[in-house]
Amino acid sequence: MAEALRLAALGRGRTSPNPAVGAVVVSGDRIIGRGFHTWQGIAHAEVLALAEAGAAARGATVYVTLEPCAHQGRTGPCADALIAAGVSRVVAAMEDPNPVVRGKGFALLRATGVRVEIEEGAAGPAEALNEPYLHFIQTGTPLVTVKAALTLDGKIAAPQDNDGWITSEVARANVQQVRHCSDAILTGIGTVLEDDCLLTDRSGLERSRPLLRVVLDSLLRLPLRSKIVESAAGDVLVVCTSAAAPARRTALEERGIEVIVADGQQGRTDIAAVVRHLAGRRYLSLMVEAGSIVNWAMLDGGIADKVLFYYAPKILGGLKSLPVAGGAGRQRRIDAILLNRLTVHSVSTNEFAVEAYVVKGQ
Ligand SMILES: NC(=O)c1ccc[n+]([C@@H]2O[C@H](COP(=O)([O-])OP(=O)(O)OC[C@H]3O[C@@H](n4cnc5c(N)ncnc54)[C@H](OP(=O)(O)O)[C@@H]3O)[C@@H](O)[C@H]2O)c1
Ligand SMILES: [Zn+2]
Repeated sequence: MAEALRLAALGRGRTSPNPAVGAVVVSGDRIIGRGFHTWQGIAHAEVLALAEAGAAARGATVYVTLEPCAHQGRTGPCADALIAAGVSRVVAAMEDPNPVVRGKGFALLRATGVRVEIEEGAAGPAEALNEPYLHFIQTGTPLVTVKAALTLDGKIAAPQDNDGWITSEVARANVQQVRHCSDAILTGIGTVLEDDCLLTDRSGLERSRPLLRVVLDSLLRLPLRSKIVESAAGDVLVVCTSAAAPARRTALEERGIEVIVADGQQGRTDIAAVVRHLAGRRYLSLMVEAGSIVNWAMLDGGIADKVLFYYAPKILGGLKSLPVAGGAGRQRRIDAILLNRLTVHSVSTNEFAVEAYVVKGQ
């Protein structure tokens, strides 16, 4: 199972909207087939592993990180392929909560006499591999993560000049990996105007589809000479309100940028509508890399599911440097937004990241 999990991880960023899955065929004490799914490769992990094992798969055991599928998608059901190959036992890390599978894969196997087991202790790592997929299947919305680089005193920008970086190169390389595993990334126009950021996946790794770059820009202030506009290649979505000038919209559309209108409160865009729009296009995950205002809107509005804060050993101080979440803030300590399931990751010497989940229904 450890090998199957290792293989599945090779598919990260390369399978969405499908889950990352790894499979291993074992005969006696030997691995005779290995496979992992990628969107471009189409074939599922089990089928690839069975193909490598060939006739020797008969009577073998298959370890797989997710319940084998039972439905016809771009490929036939893996449960059928396992049965046809004559395997005697399937050990899975977890059931697939997808309604088109959910126990049906196991049932198909059992019905033909294949032994089915769930490997104890494997569900945790298997779930971690497919966090966005599992979240999307269960909620119908993308997993929204607010990511930021912070000084130890929680600041994300200095009042005058933001040349240079808050975190180290190691931390920023780590962020590229996180971007690689995200389907979409979102920022506010404030950040684009200040930083002229690119917001691309520069991990150099293959993706199942381009990282969609989303900008919340109520009045379409996005400069045509910004890096985002100049680098747009069908991967930029700008969200505005109906108050935006039609000519601005046309100018962006002429540069291959998709513009949608989502009217929200106080003349700003409706973030929940944006998230629903992304869900409709089966984007499983959204990473927010924005400034104070949008970060707060995400947290205050109950849109964010989790935070990923990278802390640098620095203090900016001052009342004018921007906090990670600005806006109105909560007025009483007892109304603070609560987080749980907190993990501290060591990033580099003197740097750490905090990953935590927003408690919903507060
Ligand atoms: N350290 C880090 O990790 C990090 C990351 C990103 C940015 N930053 C820093 O953050 C600073 C920018 O912060 P910021 O707060 O000005 O910018 P921001 O949060 O990126 O963007 C704010 C703008 O987004 C627009 N917006 C559209 N719809 C919105 C909605 N529903 N809710 C909230 N805002 C909406 C608003 O302008 P309109 O009403 O005109 O649309 C708003 O002024 C920069 O200095 C940048 O360097 C730091
Ligand atoms: Zn399958």
